[in-house]
Amino acid sequence: MKRYLITGASRGIGRAIAMRLVAPDVMLLLHGRDTVALAETCRTVEKSGGKTTKLIHDLANFRGIDNLVAEVGHKPIDLLVNNAGIAVVKPFAEITHPTFRAADAAGLEHRQYFVHRSKDRLSKLERVLREQVCPGRIIHCHS
Ligand SMILES: NC(=O)c1ccc[n+]([C@@H]2O[C@H](COP(=O)([O-])OP(=O)(O)OC[C@H]3O[C@@H](n4cnc5c(N)ncnc54)[C@H](OP(=O)(O)O)[C@@H]3O)[C@@H](O)[C@H]2O)c1
Repeated sequence: MKRYLITGASRGIGRAIAMRLVAPDVMLLLHGRDTVALAETCRTVEKSGGKTTKLIHDLANFRGIDNLVAEVGHKPIDLLVNNAGIAVVKPFAEITHPTFRAADAAGLEHRQYFVHRSKDRLSKLERVLREQVCPGRIIHCHS
């Protein structure tokens, strides 16, 4: 069984990606913070025949990332969609400093830390990418 990990799958782009990745041989590890919204994603995915595991962690702090990595476990991850984050869709001049700060949480530094902490699980992925024998991928969604 392949394992695909999608962060920020409780709504928006992450939920849409989860729906597109449903396949009989895939376990979707779906992450979010909002338990109700994440449960809704899982229900929708399962109705389409997908298999899901729910992971609930705040990725704006390093402890939350460590906890997610621990819960994901040591088995390899075949695809990581590093999507969790905040999209600020506003004219630039209207974006306030607190909004910038909030959007930066779970931003690039946290995503890099997440990939670094996951590297044992991703090492197989990196190797197959180098050898180009398997369509393994890390996808970052970032504003
Ligand atoms: N929408 C756009 O136009 C656009 C454009 C460029 C890039 N992006 C990027 O694409 C990604 C998804 O955007 P979207 O429009 O789908 O956003 P969205 O609908 O607001 O969904 C954001 C997702 O990220 C999760 N998330 C946010 N902060 C988090 C944190 N601190 N810890 C853990 N999870 C967190 C949310 O979890 P909960 O809801 O469960 O808290 C939710 O699942 C973002 O990284 C965004 O920067 C979006």
